Amino acid sequence: MRKPRSVREADVADKVVLVRSDLNVPLDDGRVADDTRIRASLPTLQLLLDAGAAEVRVCSHLGRPKTEEDRAKYAMAPVEARLRELLPDDRVKVLENTRFEAGETKNDEEFARRLADGCDLYVNDAFGSAHRAHSSTEAVAHLLPAYAGLLLLDELEHLGRLLGDIERPFVLISGGAKVEDKLGVLRNLGGRADAVLIGGKMAEDLRNGSPLDFPVELPSDVVGASEFAADAESRVCGYDDLPDGWLGLDIGPKTRENFADALASARTIFWNGPMGVFEWPRFAEGTKAVAEAVAANTDAFTVVGGADSVRALNELGLAERVSWVSTGGGASLELLEGKELPGVAAIPS
Ligand code: 3PG
Ligand code: MG
Repeated sequence: MRKPRSVREADVADKVVLVRSDLNVPLDDGRVADDTRIRASLPTLQLLLDAGAAEVRVCSHLGRPKTEEDRAKYAMAPVEARLRELLPDDRVKVLENTRFEAGETKNDEEFARRLADGCDLYVNDAFGSAHRAHSSTEAVAHLLPAYAGLLLLDELEHLGRLLGDIERPFVLISGGAKVEDKLGVLRNLGGRADAVLIGGKMAEDLRNGSPLDFPVELPSDVVGASEFAADAESRVCGYDDLPDGWLGLDIGPKTRENFADALASARTIFWNGPMGVFEWPRFAEGTKAVAEAVAANTDAFTVVGGADSVRALNELGLAERVSWVSTGGGASLELLEGKELPGVAAIPS
């Protein structure tokens, strides 16, 4: 895998540095629910401050804002507040959510020019967003001397291990809400894994047939709910016999056991995405069971990626027990396909 040049090689003294971090953290009632991605961004920011940067201008997206109302929901303020608690230095400036600009997700050059304006160099440390060719991750890298941040480099190094000679069986377990994104990636991953276990919203979408051309293990039972609500009427159902109009909001007890068995005999594990709506306690058991099974397999090289899966690990106090906690969800899955991510490709060697 090609190594982009490191921020350590940059001369940043008295310079204004634009940093793209991935501060896209889970929120709960307008508060940061898990600050892993914020903390993971600190070493690069600290390095720049220690090296005498005049200003460290941090930008990130937050969520997937679409409507006007979303602007309040996804404002950077709570994220900035947490960052300032962890890194109180007036030279750090935090820009507003890059996705409030329509140009961002179109990789628009005009928006990239505005981001670059007044900056001397660019550091991309947003591994979790490196699979996106957006203005703040791709276009801007062509407008300023570009470098890779410490987190980005660390992630490439650790996840790169999954691309080399891995010990088998390799079990890939995936869930979460971004179904369209992930199915595309899983399709390309093909038979790289010896077993692919699927839960969460992704399993729900596969209920009527899988577009994947390799076998996947789907839940045999689910925790069904009469509506999408934390206090919905609910009961355990067979995967194929949910009452009409009901939703599967977690994997059921039999599935938890089956998945745990498959994970126990693995020698390499990659887990991305929760098994249900784990932020609601009544639908959290499946995700917990998977987190515990991954952490319990100390003989395997275990990688957990994605903001929500990492949040679940942290809430259970299990993060220390896995080999690598990745800040990237979709990004680490795409890296597994073996292709260079656009945010990385834009940085010279
Ligand atoms: C993530 O949470 O996976 C990254 O921050 C990227 O977010 P996105 O899927 O909305 O581009
Ligand atoms: Mg995510």
